[in-house]
Amino acid sequence: MATRILKVDPRRPDPDALAEAGAVIRRGGLVAFPTETVYGLGASALDPEAVRRIFAAKGRPADNPLIVHVADAQDLDRVVREVPAVARELMARFWPGPLSLALPRRPEVPDAVTAGLPTVGVRMPDHPVALGLIRAAGVPIAAPSANLSGRPSPTRAEHVLEDLDGRVDLILDGGETGVGLESTFVDLTARPPVLCRPGGITLAQLAEVLGEVRVDPAVLGKEPQGPPRSPGQKYAHYAPRAPVVLVEGPLSRVQERIRSLIAEEAARGRRVGVLASAESRGLYPAPVVVEVGSRSDLARVAANLFAALRSLDAQGADIILAEGFPEEGIGLAIMNRLRKAAGQVVRVGGEGEVPWG
Ligand code: TXA
Ligand code: MG
Repeated sequence: MATRILKVDPRRPDPDALAEAGAVIRRGGLVAFPTETVYGLGASALDPEAVRRIFAAKGRPADNPLIVHVADAQDLDRVVREVPAVARELMARFWPGPLSLALPRRPEVPDAVTAGLPTVGVRMPDHPVALGLIRAAGVPIAAPSANLSGRPSPTRAEHVLEDLDGRVDLILDGGETGVGLESTFVDLTARPPVLCRPGGITLAQLAEVLGEVRVDPAVLGKEPQGPPRSPGQKYAHYAPRAPVVLVEGPLSRVQERIRSLIAEEAARGRRVGVLASAESRGLYPAPVVVEVGSRSDLARVAANLFAALRSLDAQGADIILAEGFPEEGIGLAIMNRLRKAAGQVVRVGGEGEVPWG
């Protein structure tokens, strides 16, 4: 299949472009589209054949469920059996926005979407192109991130094309996404609710509405006990082609360790790439250094992270050394993605050194 690309104004997308994309969805095709988090690979959430095409295009394991995107709260009735009061509170506060909720599913939702789970993940994206597409299609849209399974999520249309050229019918190119990391995912069918994946809505924001929130151990990179709550958490993820070594700890120790790792890896003949904050980029004598932004602006770091990992690949790094970031606010999401991208995590400073991963 030839992939068509339509450029759209992210703020006021052309209705004709949305109508064309909506028609592709209605006839069972795949459309990649920008959201405020990352680009999604969309299909009609009520068409099992179309949903299967998503899995085939991404090479995604069938046991990893998809998030269903709606443009209006009433659309939830088509996929969700009941919306508890606490969900309504979260929706009133954070929708449209980067928050996905697991709620009891309706039987009409194809098993392919939920991977057979009794719940369905839903969210209302905060992006005129995404909302316009869902309305033009007239159906809720199931959409994972529009990358090949295991690769960093796309924050630009070019990333989608890099991974899925010829595997998607149409890409709506609305420029760069905003948040840069996928939505926060909360399972509201558990007591207390469980944070399955951190994202743009922070744990502190959730706690303001929910009170107690349990953080799934997988979020923190710990081995889960029993089957993972959110199946996506068990797969290697967000990974560039080059292996990533994440170095965590107090900044000066991290910088020192990365400098010595650069020397070691260069001595082995490797082309070393470093993922650095603005504060330390000048300290690393490596052939490829990509800056993700300042430690004082973690939202910027989040927005740049996936593009930075792709750029390290594009510049031919054989190994990537990445600085860790503080786990405050959106930093929890940044570290979750970095840990999942990393084949190896090195902790320096504090209570001694614990390599793991
Ligand atoms: O920001 C986002 O959420 C983006 C944009 C496109 O909306 N989408 C996204 O989808 O990141 P995806 O498929 O890459 O990640 C969905 C995550 C997976 O980890 C999956 O396991 C989890 O959500 N998930 C989906 N439905 C679930 C359910 N019913 N219960 C638990 N986890 C679920
Ligand atoms: Mg994904």
